[in-house]
Amino acid sequence: MRVSGKWATPDSIITPAPKSACLRSTAACGCDDLVIVSHKVVRNKHNIAAFCNNPCLIRPLGSGHAFPSFRSTAMSKHTLSVVDNRTGASYEIPIVEGAVRAMDLRQIKAGPDDFGLMTYDPGLTNTASTRSAITYIDGDQGILRYRGYPIEQLAAQSTYLETAYLIVFGQLPTAEQLTKWEQDISRHTLLHTNIQNLIATFRYNAHPMSVFISAIASLSTLYPDARKVTDPTNRRLQVERMIAKVATIAAFTYRHNQGWPFYYPDDSLSYIGNFLKMMFRMTESTYEPDPVLERALNVLFILHADHEQNCGTNAMRVIGSSQADPYSAMAGAAAALYGPLHGAANEAVLRMLEEIGTPENVPAFIERVKKGEGERLMGFGHRIYKNYDPRCRIIKATAEEVFKVTGHNKLLDVALELERIALQDDYFVSRKLYPNVDFYSGLIYRAMKLPASMFTVMFAVPRTCGWVAHWLELLTDSEQKISRPRQIYTGPDVREYLPMGERQIAS
Ligand code: ACO
Repeated sequence: MRVSGKWATPDSIITPAPKSACLRSTAACGCDDLVIVSHKVVRNKHNIAAFCNNPCLIRPLGSGHAFPSFRSTAMSKHTLSVVDNRTGASYEIPIVEGAVRAMDLRQIKAGPDDFGLMTYDPGLTNTASTRSAITYIDGDQGILRYRGYPIEQLAAQSTYLETAYLIVFGQLPTAEQLTKWEQDISRHTLLHTNIQNLIATFRYNAHPMSVFISAIASLSTLYPDARKVTDPTNRRLQVERMIAKVATIAAFTYRHNQGWPFYYPDDSLSYIGNFLKMMFRMTESTYEPDPVLERALNVLFILHADHEQNCGTNAMRVIGSSQADPYSAMAGAAAALYGPLHGAANEAVLRMLEEIGTPENVPAFIERVKKGEGERLMGFGHRIYKNYDPRCRIIKATAEEVFKVTGHNKLLDVALELERIALQDDYFVSRKLYPNVDFYSGLIYRAMKLPASMFTVMFAVPRTCGWVAHWLELLTDSEQKISRPRQIYTGPDVREYLPMGERQIAS
């Protein structure tokens, strides 16, 4: 079924909008089976109908339509009136919190045997899969808040564990709550020797993210009690274990990759200080984390702690929805993060900067990206942000602080030149492609002498608190069900089984 709509002004005139605003018009163009009218259309700048300039979408409403005109009711009713032009039937669908329920469309049927209308949304680009109180993003304005607190304030004033508490439990902790939370986490930082042995079993050059994912998954073999996902006390225990143990797993993964012996956790240090020590301590009898690096990592961890329904978090929720144990769900979330279009973009950015080499080579590289001849400009673009990613601004400032300690990195010059040229280029401007969180974070990790292959692991450690917060929210949400989308079947109709002798190679 094809969909079209109109802005039902009293005289049925659609005010033209700039072409750039017509972002979602393509799928609807040339279609007129279904007319959708709603006062939301007028207000929502992303709505297909309100901003589409394509004349095929402009179809005056005849006076015989069974649903009310915009003028008479639009400002008073929070509903969507739908006429199915296949049958002439009309429907009124509630709009709540800016959304219609997909299941409300199921009643729209072409005939008694029809399954009912579905929505088709590859990549879930316009589908809210949950209601969530954790993270707020306004991608047009470049706003990010955890539980209502602006990311800029948290990055400037909070610690990672304090922010993790906020994300998981919904409130900033009191001094007493924070002390207890820090103790609860540090109590769980040790890794069972089975997991240490598992990490040591992998080839020295195994990608650290593959090792990390395997180690996370294997935690479920040590903690079978984690399957009791309906028990709140048990869930809290697993949350503490997960946040604590990911740092140790990440550090051991790195040390195995480097061929170094493991260093056990030190609970006299902060979460970040201990992590730095487990990662970088060599033969010193005492290890003092560099305060600038500790602060920088603290900021990076806060910025990466959560980002609402991204690919990895969605994976956590999808797996968690089957009531699998949280370690298995988290291994799936980490695997989703591993992809270069998601959390491994920071690794790809570093490789791209190294390949470009010097600022002089930037214009030629940008031309290749625009012609689609090579890869994309990694670290640019975002599904949600159509403005500067607020995290990127903070990371850029943090990188400058780090370089004062570690010395200047020439790749920063390449990155700055890439950003300067791209932000002046119509290709990137018209598509609203801005630097994202991954554009500068790799430079900080490189300044800490980490190999690019470790960057996504450095992302996964702090993202753990976001994953567990969404897992808890999912399990306590009475509306949630096992995640099981629909499909539009495009394969062959029923056919008879062919004996081997009658088969031919399909062309
Ligand atoms: N470089 C060049 N062109 C790009 C880029 C880019 N980085 N990103 C998007 N575009 C172009 C696309 O080619 C497309 O152009 P077209 O309309 O002419 O076909 C248009 O911009 C829209 O792109 P989509 O892929 O439809 O946007 P989507 O929202 O699906 O993708 C994504 C978002 C995956 C982040 C994309 O921008 C990208 O691949 N960026 C590079 C990888 C990256 O940095 N990922 C990290 C994201 S942050 C995170 O996950 C932690």
